[in-house]
Amino acid sequence: MDRIRIRGGKPLSGEIPIGGAKNAALPLMAAGLLTDDRLVLSNVPKLADIATMASLLAQHGIAVERPDNAGRVLSLGGRITNTEAPYDIVRTMRASFLVMGPLLARTGEARVSLPGGCEIGARPVDLHLKGLEQMGARFNLEGGYVDGRVDGRLRGAKIVFPFVSVGATENLLMAAALAEGRTELVNAAREPEIGDLAHCLVAMGADIKGIGSDTLVIEGVRALHGADHAIIPDRIETGSYACAAAISGGSVLLRHARLEHLGATVRVMREAGVDITEEAGGLMVRRLNGLHGADVMTEPYPGFPTDMQAQFMAMLSVAEGASMVTETIFENRFMHVPELNRMGARINVHGTSAIVRGVPSLSGAPVMASDLRASLSLILAGLAAKGETVVNRVYHLDRGYEAVEQKLAACGADIERIRG
Ligand code: UD1
Repeated sequence: MDRIRIRGGKPLSGEIPIGGAKNAALPLMAAGLLTDDRLVLSNVPKLADIATMASLLAQHGIAVERPDNAGRVLSLGGRITNTEAPYDIVRTMRASFLVMGPLLARTGEARVSLPGGCEIGARPVDLHLKGLEQMGARFNLEGGYVDGRVDGRLRGAKIVFPFVSVGATENLLMAAALAEGRTELVNAAREPEIGDLAHCLVAMGADIKGIGSDTLVIEGVRALHGADHAIIPDRIETGSYACAAAISGGSVLLRHARLEHLGATVRVMREAGVDITEEAGGLMVRRLNGLHGADVMTEPYPGFPTDMQAQFMAMLSVAEGASMVTETIFENRFMHVPELNRMGARINVHGTSAIVRGVPSLSGAPVMASDLRASLSLILAGLAAKGETVVNRVYHLDRGYEAVEQKLAACGADIERIRG
C-alpha cells in the first residue's frame, strides 16, 4: 500500500491548480442516466471515485469515454441496459446511490445495493427513499439491496426535508426533472455542487427554479437531451490547500479557485489570521503573522463544511490559543485526532466537540489515515512538523485529491509517495 513521506518545515510558495469538484462530478455523471443522448462533462478531476462512478455507469449500459488527451473531458452516452447497482461498487462509494433517482425516473425500476456504514458514521439513505416514495416509488429491502419500482412515471410532489441532505437533494432533483408535474424540494441543500447539477440539468432541458436557494421548484418534462457542461472548481480542494499555505507559513496562488463558493471557510480562515485575496486567475492565500485559535461548527452550506473540519483542525493545532471545533453533520468524524496527538497536538474530544490547544510546533511521526479528509489533515500536519512524517493508508487520499504530492512539491514541500 502506498505511503506519503513528508519532511516538514518548508514554507510553501508558488501556484497550485485547483481541479474540478469531485462532489459535483459524481452527481453530474449520474445525470448521464437521464438521457440516451451524449452528456459531455469537462474539468473532470482524475480521481479513483470518478473511475468508480464510470464503472458503475458502464454496467448500467452508459459508456464513459475520454475524448481528450488530458482525460479531463468525459463523454457519457448509451441506453440503460441494466438497472442493478451491485454491492461491490456501491460499498466502495456511497455516492453510487445517486443512480437510484435517475434509474427509477427513466425505467421505473432500480435495484441498488444499500450503502453500508462507513468510517465517518452511519449515513443512512432514508431521506432519498422517503422522497421517492412521495413521488410514487415503492421500495423493498431484500438481501442488502433496495428494490425500487414505479408504475408509470414518477409524480411530482412537495417534499419537505426534515434536515439538509446533499445526496437526497441531488437524487430527488434528478428524479423530479423527469417526473409528471411539479415537485417542490423544501429545505433543500444549497451546496454549490447542487447549483452545478441544476444548471447542467437545465442545459439538458429541465425546468428548475430557485437554483442556489433552499427551495427548488421543478416542472417535470418528458425527456431530457444531451448537453456540454464544465464542472465548477473544487471548493474543498481549495480550502485544503489554503490550510497548507497557512500551516506552512507560506503564500500560494490557488489557480481557478472561486471565493464565492467558499462560504464560511473564508471568514473562519481570516479569523485565524490567514490572508485570502482574489487575484486574476484565482485566490492568493498567505499567512502574514502568527495563526490564532478560532471556533468553528460544521453546518450545511454556506456554513463551515464538515469536509474541511479535519484540515482546519490540523491548522488550529499550531495556532496560538485554544479553539473549539464542533461537528454537527457526522458522528465519528474525529478519527484524525489521535493521529494528530501522536504528532504532538493537544486536542481533547468531548462528544461532538474537540478542544484544540495550540502548540508551538508538531513533531513528525508515522500516522494512519482513516478517511479522505483526515488523510489531508495529516499531510498538513506533516508540512508543519519538525522531522519526518509518514502517512499510511493513502488510498483514501486518491479517492478525492488529485496529485497531492506533485502539487505540494511544486510549491517547495519536501514530499514524496512511497509505492508498494
Ligand atoms: C455529501 C458529500 C460529502 C459531505 C456531505 C456533507 C458527495 C458525494 N458527498 O455526502 O463529501 O461530507 O455531503 O456535506 O457530495 N442523512 C440521513 N439520511 C439520509 C441522508 C443523509 O440521515 O437519507 C444524514 C447523514 O448521515 C449525515 C447528514 O444527513 O449525517 C448529511 O448527509 P448528506 O448531506 O446526505 O451527505 P452525503 O450526500 O452523503
